[in-house]
Amino acid sequence: MKDIDETITRRDFFSHVGWGGVAATLGGSAFSFYRFYFPNVLYETQKVFKIGKPSDYPEGLSEKWKKERQIWVVRNERGLYVMISICRHLGCTPNWFQDKQAFLCPCHGSIFSIEGNVLGGPSPRLLWRAALKIDPTDGQIIVDFNHRQDPDPMSTEQGLRVDEASREVEPFFLKV
Ligand code: FES
Repeated sequence: MKDIDETITRRDFFSHVGWGGVAATLGGSAFSFYRFYFPNVLYETQKVFKIGKPSDYPEGLSEKWKKERQIWVVRNERGLYVMISICRHLGCTPNWFQDKQAFLCPCHGSIFSIEGNVLGGPSPRLLWRAALKIDPTDGQIIVDFNHRQDPDPMSTEQGLRVDEASREVEPFFLKV
């Protein structure tokens, strides 16, 4: 009698283990199915965004959006452009120095003018400018962070530069 009880107990045990395995497999499949059809939401930074109206930007440089959007807004006597605050050497964030009227990159010393030309340091390219347009419904500037102006610079005694007139064209410049 004792042997029979032990046999049954052992059989029950293996039966439970077996069904447990089946349940685990089914549970895993159900979970995979759920994750496939309901993936985690990715909260990526929006790449097309508004930055207010042209009248919000007086002549000079605005750093208002540097931290949140990685851009500077610059107005000169002819209009307005938006530059991306990413160094073209290895991607660090330059800082604007009002007294020097230049952006200095803290990483390896690249220096850029307010137009985005390279005045010194290892950067091989000028700063990007982002595409812009005005929203006809509310008059705000829309920045397209992914659509960038990237002209081939000339090497001069003053660094790498391009003719400014060639940069002040739509959609990278607003005559506003
Ligand atoms: S990342 Fe700016 S100089 Fe190297």
